[in-house]
Amino acid sequence: MSETSVSQGEMNHLLEPIHGFLGSSTPAAWINEAARSDELHALLIDHLHCELKAAQSAAFLLRKYVLTKEQASQVLEWLVPFEDVAYRKANHDLIAAQKEIPRIRKTEEQKRNWQGRMVDRMLLLMKEELHHFTQVYEIMREREMDIQPLSASRYAASLLSHVRTYEPETLIDKLIVGGLIEARSCERFAALAPHLDSQLQKFYISLLRSEARHFEDYLKLAQEIAGRDISADIQRLVDVEAGLITSTDNELRFHSGVPA
Ligand SMILES: [Fe+2]
Ligand SMILES: [Fe+2]
Repeated sequence: MSETSVSQGEMNHLLEPIHGFLGSSTPAAWINEAARSDELHALLIDHLHCELKAAQSAAFLLRKYVLTKEQASQVLEWLVPFEDVAYRKANHDLIAAQKEIPRIRKTEEQKRNWQGRMVDRMLLLMKEELHHFTQVYEIMREREMDIQPLSASRYAASLLSHVRTYEPETLIDKLIVGGLIEARSCERFAALAPHLDSQLQKFYISLLRSEARHFEDYLKLAQEIAGRDISADIQRLVDVEAGLITSTDNELRFHSGVPA
């Protein structure tokens, strides 16, 4: 099956665990606002930034918890052309840049434990997020939409403010937050898609498969690293996330709450 074609059956299959996991569905008021044509430009800028932030967060987790200095600089360098495009209006061949996947030679220690698996999963996730970034960027260019500065929504910062400040709980909570953001993105793409033009509709549906996998990868890593039952830790953050989605929010963004 091609990247863009996701049948209704597969879509339901992908969304079932997402809906089971999240504490609330996207409110109709958000969909109504987000589907307005005069919001599309801002929404696409925000989406573009979200894809980059998804790749950056994975890179920062790897840098903080797994990689040697040298390995980390390889990973951070991979992001530079995308950051140039997003923040500095630069022009780069992003199709080529996404393929510059760093070849990380794992240390013996990394090979032996969860760190090695985290490298593999996070590099694959980054590759996919950078591909999504490139896709959003191409759609914006076709539509002659420039990348203007746009404030981030409260969503990620608020979620991260609920991460505990001692290890290994910090890492476990950050991974759960990563899973929540991926799950919400997936749920929103599916909720918004039917209200968009056919190009965006197809594109958003095409993203479901990878975002659903990212959600599971984050939770699996959290579970593996914790080595204990983390359902209470998950539930605590699920409730925080649902609170952000169902409460009034002053700014309309991809992950914002109920429009004021
Ligand atoms: Fe993505
Ligand atoms: Fe993702």
